[in-house]
Amino acid sequence: IAVFRDAQQADRIGAEILERIVREKAHPKLGLATGSSPIGIYKELVERIRISPCSYKHVSTYNLDEYVGLSADHPQSYAAYMREHLFQYLDMLPNHIHIPNGAAHSIEAESHRYETLLREAGRLDVQLLGIGLNGHIGFNEPGNHLSSETHIVALTEGTRSANAKNFPSDEQTPRHAITMGVGPIMKADSVLFIAHGEAKSTIIQEAFTGPVTTSCPASLLQLHPNVIVLLDEDAAAGL
Ligand code: GLP
Repeated sequence: IAVFRDAQQADRIGAEILERIVREKAHPKLGLATGSSPIGIYKELVERIRISPCSYKHVSTYNLDEYVGLSADHPQSYAAYMREHLFQYLDMLPNHIHIPNGAAHSIEAESHRYETLLREAGRLDVQLLGIGLNGHIGFNEPGNHLSSETHIVALTEGTRSANAKNFPSDEQTPRHAITMGVGPIMKADSVLFIAHGEAKSTIIQEAFTGPVTTSCPASLLQLHPNVIVLLDEDAAAGL
């Protein structure tokens, strides 16, 4: 767990870690995340590429999740987010970019397709992760059990209201998502976990110093052998 005076310093280190994997591995497999937390890391990565060009043609990416009902061209989809914050700046091959299709005709079939894809990909080199206010990772919400496989999830009211800021109205805020399960996260060679801001301090404390429990999915990371946690001082206040 590394605590930085401000979020930008944490983001710089996060970008360095990702870039090192991209430069060193022959076929890097990156698990990517959305939300406000990774934006700074993506920005830093893009800045580093501008200063010292780096090809991403050999890189494959696997995103954690997508809203059910939103197609890749919907402005609030995670696919659009990834294009906006990262992919438009990289020379990645389009068929190396993997994000669940939230607008698939059959969401069950899409979950199955994504799970098969992840299995074929094998172990991810790194999984970038943020955390929801209730401890969710990806969209693996707290509950009595966690699924290791890709699945469809009904978003909790708390998660919906946290995400409502990105949608024009409550009615238009998605109620379901398709998410990678905890399996590929726990199997990834490394996890790069980021959180900023005071609002996350309680759940960070719970996740990393509390019991390992499905009621705080991020607490499972205590069992992962290689997790790098990058926090600003505000997010780390409870540790
Ligand atoms: C969403 C995403 C998560 C993310 C969480 C926190 O629910 N599915 O992957 O970690 O939001 O988002 P933020 O970083 O905006 O606080």
